[in-house]
Amino acid sequence: MKKAIALLLTVVMILGVMLSAVGCSKQQEQAAEQQAQKEEQKEEPKTTLDIIKERGKLIIGTSADYPPYEFYDENKNVVGFDIDVAKKIAEKMGVELEIKDMSFDGIIPALLSKQIDFAIAGFTITEERKKSVDFVPYLDASLTGSETGQILIANKEGSVKSVEDLNGKVVAVQLGTTGEEEAKNLAEKYDIEIKGFSKVVPEIILELKNMSSDAAVVGLNTAKEIVKEHGDLMIVGDVLNSEEQGIPVRKEDKELYDFIKGVIDELKASSEYQKMVDKWFKEENK
Ligand code: ARG
Repeated sequence: MKKAIALLLTVVMILGVMLSAVGCSKQQEQAAEQQAQKEEQKEEPKTTLDIIKERGKLIIGTSADYPPYEFYDENKNVVGFDIDVAKKIAEKMGVELEIKDMSFDGIIPALLSKQIDFAIAGFTITEERKKSVDFVPYLDASLTGSETGQILIANKEGSVKSVEDLNGKVVAVQLGTTGEEEAKNLAEKYDIEIKGFSKVVPEIILELKNMSSDAAVVGLNTAKEIVKEHGDLMIVGDVLNSEEQGIPVRKEDKELYDFIKGVIDELKASSEYQKMVDKWFKEENK
């Protein structure tokens, strides 16, 4: 009888060991499977384009202070050429559009830290910016019909009537723009004080209206809009540089880059793009 119990105990123990071994190998199998899955995911990480489509929403960053590219209309909606372009892109993706309005100098940091999918804000394509982002070119003189660049604007009642009057003057610029760069170039020739602002509308406009600044540097297309709207302001001199505009995209987002480029190429091919440009940039349409 004792022997029988001993035998039974041994059998139970062996069974126990076997079962736990099976359990172990099951666990190992599962772990291996999970690892394989992880590796699969690693091989094909989701692209920003996938994420946008899954989210059902495209999130763009802009600085809505720069007519006719992006600005607030009387109903407090952000409108403009860039917004129409962004809407077309969202439409082709089959998703909603969310616009994040921020200060211009915060846009590229927001893009690089993935708070937005891409930026569209009348960005000039520059060598410096090309080090951190890629640009889909989307606006140049061949479309707008006039050379674009930075230019001075001033109050008609003020003392700046030409670039040569700049000595001893205060020049307002939007921080982080090529306007700021051009003002710095002017500062090499003239004794000027540069005053930085985060928004053109309304900050820089108010500076000129109340003559706290003697002049400002903004893009030509925006300068034209501003002087049309504000009879007390005027354009001074000629463009200080020559610019082409692009849509900044993170360097790793090749699929998104191609998608945006594809939409613009398609719009261009159908002449719809020229109509969009003319709506916002052609004098007689304003
Ligand atoms: N084109 C200039 C630049 O890229 C100014 C752009 C300002 N854009 C704006 N939305 N405020 O620096």
